[in-house]
Amino acid sequence: MRKIIIAAVTVNGYLSHSETESSHWTSKADKRFFREATSGGRGVIIVGRKTYETIPGGLPGRQMVVLTTQPKCFPNTPGVVFRSDPVEIILTDMEAKGYTESWIAGGRQVYTLFLRKGYVDEIYLTVEPVLFDRGIPFLSELAQDTPLSLISQRLLDDQTVLLHYRTPFSGG
Ligand SMILES: NC(=O)c1ccc[n+]([C@@H]2O[C@H](COP(=O)([O-])OP(=O)(O)OC[C@H]3O[C@@H](n4cnc5c(N)ncnc54)[C@H](OP(=O)(O)O)[C@@H]3O)[C@@H](O)[C@H]2O)c1
Repeated sequence: MRKIIIAAVTVNGYLSHSETESSHWTSKADKRFFREATSGGRGVIIVGRKTYETIPGGLPGRQMVVLTTQPKCFPNTPGVVFRSDPVEIILTDMEAKGYTESWIAGGRQVYTLFLRKGYVDEIYLTVEPVLFDRGIPFLSELAQDTPLSLISQRLLDDQTVLLHYRTPFSGG
């Protein structure tokens, strides 16, 4: 199973101004890229509960797993499952269901959790042309430095850069 971080950041490395703010601020081109990358039925989207609360109900046509310590607090929602299990178990379950990609879609806590465990093969990072005055950083502290290999870079529109990296954990 390919495990892929997908994130959009400001030039000063923020995901949002605050943990309750949605990703309304990202470009149309990034939203289109996210939709195209995560559609097609091969993948499941994994988010933290705080990110889910910015997109309640999930995303049309895509299966979502929401990490929360309180999975019983959420009503049954088509296309969304709420899990408190260790991520190893969630990934194994998703593979058993036939998914071949896990799109790790934030926020900061969830990106950091997967990177600290080495469960990330690739990173798609969109850099939006803005500096926020404050906010939620892309990542918290990691266990070690991690060199990345650039797979590709391209413009999503005339202002928005998409970077695609492979991690050293790839294939593990
Ligand atoms: N720009 C982007 O690309 C992008 C992408 C995604 C999100 N965001 C932004 O990021 C912000 C939210 O990020 P965040 O770091 O504050 O929160 P988050 O990672 O979205 O969610 C954190 C929550 O996830 C649950 N969780 C985390 N680790 C867990 C584990 N090991 N087991 C079970 N549950 C676990 C906990 O939920 P409980 O408290 O329910 O237990 C925790 O409070 C929002 O503003 C959102 O818009 C931006």
